Amino acid sequence: MKVKKAVIPAAGFGTRFLPYTKAQPKEMLPIVDKPTLQFIIEEAIDSGIEEILIITGRNKTSIENHFDRSIELELELERTGKTELLREIRKISDMANIHYIRQKEPLGLGHAIYCAKSFIGDEPFAVLLGDDIVYSKKPCLKQLIEVYDVYKTTVIGVQEVPKEDVNKYGIINGKYLDNNVYMIKDLIEKPSVEAAPSNIAILGRYIITPAIFDILEKIKPGKHGEIQLTDALRELVKSEAMYAYDFEGRRYDLGDKQGFLEATVEYALRRNDLRDNFLKYLTEIVERETKEELLDEIASGAEEN
Ligand code: G1P
Repeated sequence: MKVKKAVIPAAGFGTRFLPYTKAQPKEMLPIVDKPTLQFIIEEAIDSGIEEILIITGRNKTSIENHFDRSIELELELERTGKTELLREIRKISDMANIHYIRQKEPLGLGHAIYCAKSFIGDEPFAVLLGDDIVYSKKPCLKQLIEVYDVYKTTVIGVQEVPKEDVNKYGIINGKYLDNNVYMIKDLIEKPSVEAAPSNIAILGRYIITPAIFDILEKIKPGKHGEIQLTDALRELVKSEAMYAYDFEGRRYDLGDKQGFLEATVEYALRRNDLRDNFLKYLTEIVERETKEELLDEIASGAEEN
């Protein structure tokens, strides 16, 4: 069966980005001038997804408005002859069939996915997490769908992470087959460095079979007292084959300020309209910092003498 539906959980509190996230969902944080959620939705559409369900929490209005039409804005852009912008704005609202459902209580990622049960029905579906955006030649989700089309069962997007970071991710225990595919034997949510079976981490992209819903319905809260998707997948792998795909692409961890800043700088440098001036600016500040550091060193050396 073809993968046509995707679920995007966007109901977290975004505590790591307070105060911004007090009244704004963190999924609306922009990378240069595009909300991160739009990157995710574009990836889904470019991968062949036709229906998208966004699981929202509080503060969902700006998400709905962003992907809805804005007639006043369109008229204004038309009146002032800003056709390029007008096309861009129209594209956003024409992107796909986007549906919304509200997760009433923040009970964890597994619970958020469970909220998609009736929307998904009895089909395999994609999950894209907003904290991970991937810059790649072929959309990350498309890479996973191609693997799904071969194996016809759950496929999870993974990449190696530094050993000391395993406690931030779901980690797989797998057997390497070939072509960057692993057969998963087990998964564990945020293990300690000592307990981790590998440093191959789940990075926010999944194709999952609908059998997950029966498991999510019954599963007990796990790490941090939350219903964990990884725990449900761990149950699922006992009854169905499951694969991981080490996808191609530069992945940014937007759940983290450093990752967010790296994405901002690198996406700006990829833009023809920004690259030259921005690069000049970056070079200048690095030179200035280095020079000031040298001057400080010289000055402190002089003090010591
Ligand atoms: C979630 C998942 C985790 C996965 C991570 C990827 O964790 O539970 O398995 O590795 O996303 O970003 P979170 O970052 O939401 O705590």
